[in-house]
Amino acid sequence: MPTPLFFQLESMSAEALAAEAAAGLRASPAAVSPKFFYDAFGSRLFDAITELDEYYPTRVEAGIFAADAQAIADAALSASGPAPMLVDLGAGNCAKAARLFPVLAPRRYVAVDISVDYLRDALAALQRAWPQMELAGVGQDFASHLALPAALAAPPGTGTLVFYPGSSIGNFAPAEALRLLRQMHALAAQAGQGGKGGLLIGADLVKDVHVLERAYDDALGVTAAFDLNLLRRLNVLLGADFDLRQWRHVARFDTQHSRIEMHLRAREALTVRWPGGERRFAAGEGIHTENSYKWQPGAFEALLREAGYTQVRRFTDARGWFGVFVAAV
Ligand code: AVI
Repeated sequence: MPTPLFFQLESMSAEALAAEAAAGLRASPAAVSPKFFYDAFGSRLFDAITELDEYYPTRVEAGIFAADAQAIADAALSASGPAPMLVDLGAGNCAKAARLFPVLAPRRYVAVDISVDYLRDALAALQRAWPQMELAGVGQDFASHLALPAALAAPPGTGTLVFYPGSSIGNFAPAEALRLLRQMHALAAQAGQGGKGGLLIGADLVKDVHVLERAYDDALGVTAAFDLNLLRRLNVLLGADFDLRQWRHVARFDTQHSRIEMHLRAREALTVRWPGGERRFAAGEGIHTENSYKWQPGAFEALLREAGYTQVRRFTDARGWFGVFVAAV
């Protein structure tokens, strides 16, 4: 039985991360990248978000995959060829991809996440369940740079299928999303099976503003805790002195940009200090922590075509709340 291979590629040092966070706090308006949400506790809070009644994307996407499993697999395999190398971006516990194994029958599964340590347990369990499959885990900040280690180049005759579910593409502004989609295209196109390769991606769609805002400001306050946890992270990373009680979570849909914006707003005038820096906030002034873009289905398909994909197929739920898109390189 093969054993999973693991690779940790370049990762940012704690000093570089701290410098990036400090620059964001000093900026006007202050803005800190959503990547700072995901320490171990933040990842657990995100898992809890996906179980909330108000947070529909995870459930609706899973419903589309369950209802249209065979049609989605047929479209994906027609793009990549049979027995593909399945590259799962932001794999986490690998559960979403594993549910597709019976219909996709990948030859090789490559799970990519920010830290390879997040992948070890999940891949060990998958290897026991799928003893013949080649499994690999790659630790990489793929949003900055997407490229697999040479040892994981697709074997001759094997097409690559890139899998990016969960509407994480929505956390990038359109120009950034386009850049990332092009990188995925380059990855799926390299050394494909007779030039074959594909993309299987989930994207959240525009809908009623109240549904959207409740999904990012739930009654239990889990999303608020997820947002506020970023300040805890900055206290650890920067040695800052944020007092979480002085801040509140705000989520609003900006129709002009078609995005949910999350902000942390100071409840009162205050000064945050860290070694080598400080920032004064007026009452009500905010730190912009996340954008979550909501796409019109046609606009997302146009974005895929602009990134170089062809044969774009769309699968949605009955209400048209979420889209699963399959495209060929
Ligand atoms: C990871 N990403 C797709 C989530 C989203 O819906 O934009 C992150 C999130 N932020 C608050 N709730 C969920």
